[in-house]
Amino acid sequence: MLKLLFIGDIVGRPGRDIVAESLPRVRREHGIDFVIANAENSAAGAGITGVIAKSILESGVDAITLGDHVWDQRGWETEITELDRVCRPANLPKACPGWDHVIVEARGFRVAVFTVLGRSFMNMKADCPFLCADRMIEQLRAQADAIIVEVHAEATSEKIALGWHLDGRVTAVLGTHTHVPTADAAVLPKGTAFMCDVGMTGPYASVLGREVKPVIAKFLDGMPRRFEVAEGDVRLSGALIEISASKANAEKIELLTVRKG
Ligand SMILES: [Fe+2]
Ligand SMILES: [Fe+2]
Repeated sequence: MLKLLFIGDIVGRPGRDIVAESLPRVRREHGIDFVIANAENSAAGAGITGVIAKSILESGVDAITLGDHVWDQRGWETEITELDRVCRPANLPKACPGWDHVIVEARGFRVAVFTVLGRSFMNMKADCPFLCADRMIEQLRAQADAIIVEVHAEATSEKIALGWHLDGRVTAVLGTHTHVPTADAAVLPKGTAFMCDVGMTGPYASVLGREVKPVIAKFLDGMPRRFEVAEGDVRLSGALIEISASKANAEKIELLTVRKG
């Protein structure tokens, strides 16, 4: 049995800090073999930098994934090419820099991870996530014992449909992007763990990680404002998955929440 923790969108310094402070203990207490984290909001809530990526990897994260905020920080488009444990969404145009997957190994078991962006209500140029996932699975099957697919999308329907589409072909299909953990963690009939959204890692006394007041004000008058990262009720949120070492299917999935303090 192998254990994998998939951490949802790390938001700003509060998100980075709780990962650095709690991950070594969480890894030890749960006997976790692999940690994957989405860090698309780790730099002040928008994007990531090379320095931040390295610090997250040093905190005990084995692989970093990204989402629609992938290109928010200037210079990242060159830094990403030097980080082999970081991948950008796989269904972005081919011309985009960066890896489209990461493979990590522990106890002689190889786990591949890649992200697909949804296309419903998403403002990114991206290929079909379903066909991209099919293609990636074919490509990775010979290189990895287990495949984890992250679906970074707004619409629950698109995420759930992808979960069913991939059931039995990958170990897990895990949702990110909406920043709110869902209560639907389950192993689908053919052995794929699924969860619509694993939740964000950051301040929950917020609107999706941002200070409440300016967000409400913008809803009221429609005028642009700065949305700073909030600070209260910081939590690490993710999905904890047990993987059968022999069959590579998921045996169990549950929400893991770590609170500060
Ligand atoms: Fe996000
Ligand atoms: Fe996102």
